Amino acid sequence: MRELFTKGMARNIYYGGSLFFILVFLGLTFDTTARIPERAHVEALTESVARGKEVWEEYNCIGCHTLLGEGAYFAPELGNVFDRFGGSREAIKAFIRSRPEQGIPGRRSMPKFDMSEADLDALVDFLEWTSKIRRARDWPPNIHG
Ligand code: HEC
Repeated sequence: MRELFTKGMARNIYYGGSLFFILVFLGLTFDTTARIPERAHVEALTESVARGKEVWEEYNCIGCHTLLGEGAYFAPELGNVFDRFGGSREAIKAFIRSRPEQGIPGRRSMPKFDMSEADLDALVDFLEWTSKIRRARDWPPNIHG
């Protein structure tokens, strides 16, 4: 019986397939890297936004909240909280400042953070920047988070 599938053919499929998918991989990597500046809205990445990200980490906001779907599902999504508060920096600041010391019984409540005005401003800059980056797959899906 004639051998239909030779060693040579298997080798060609192996090398050809590997080369093809390595090229696809490199192409997609290049494409993604080239799009990062546009997607991340880098021109708006100021010192204050970077500081806000540090404040975000220092207070462990992600321990309760999600940011663009990543984090804990205890408290509302904050990737679009800037839009949810009608783009009002003051409203967000007032909310964070006004948290009660003690939780309201029967209700999940956010703790009060004693942070400086400078930190609060930086934090809001970070939340504003987050609301403007082109979100992965347009997440969060709606204004409510
Ligand atoms: C211990 C959990 C917890 C941590 C930590 C926490 N939050 Fe919250 N946060 C909540 C809960 C619960 C709510 C919703 C209920 C409420 O009104 O308090 C909330 C609500 C909010 C809201 C209003 C969201 C909306 O759509 O109404 C903002 C803004 C917010 N948090 C910002 C922050 C920031 C910024 C940090 C970090 C400095 C932070 N939170 C850390 C629990 C937390």
